[in-house]
Amino acid sequence: MLDTSEENRRRHSLDPHQPVWLFGYGSLIYKADFPYLERQPAYISGWARRFWQGSHDHRGTPDQPGRVVTLIETPGHRCDGMAYRITPNVFEHLDHREKNGYLRLRQTLTFNDGHTTDGLVYIASEDNAAFLGPADEADIARHIAGSHGPSGSNRDYLVQLAEALRAIDAHDEHVFNLERHLQEMNR
Ligand code: BEZ
Repeated sequence: MLDTSEENRRRHSLDPHQPVWLFGYGSLIYKADFPYLERQPAYISGWARRFWQGSHDHRGTPDQPGRVVTLIETPGHRCDGMAYRITPNVFEHLDHREKNGYLRLRQTLTFNDGHTTDGLVYIASEDNAAFLGPADEADIARHIAGSHGPSGSNRDYLVQLAEALRAIDAHDEHVFNLERHLQEMNR
């Protein structure tokens, strides 16, 4: 399996005493299993959240990868999520948790009151080995409905993400369409 944790350690030399903002747009919104100094809803501009990344280690297996979110550069879009102010040592845990193709990139975060700050975001780019790419949303929902991995079902990942977005009043058509397809499959 592709492991990006070493590359993430190499590419950012962070001052250990200087807290940084981390933007979460997937499981980081609802699963904050790390210490943080504060958190606030925020968004980044020019990116769209898509279930286009394969998951070999959390919501699927190497033989049957699940589908999880990554960000795709999309002018005019905005992606809502949650920003956490953390101390850099927390990245040791997060780089391991998100090692299946995700690299930390610098982005400008905008908080709901309009002020902006620099932050880091985990993004799995289209050239990473676990990238699955676009598909019809009904097909993606069927794929998610049939996938399971060590962190649980792919269905729970999608439903928890949709619930977490509603809790911060964020609308994401792609995520909510997939959730609706899942619900229709159960009828
Ligand atoms: C996130 O929730 O920001 C996230 C999504 C995918 C991988 C790593 C982090």
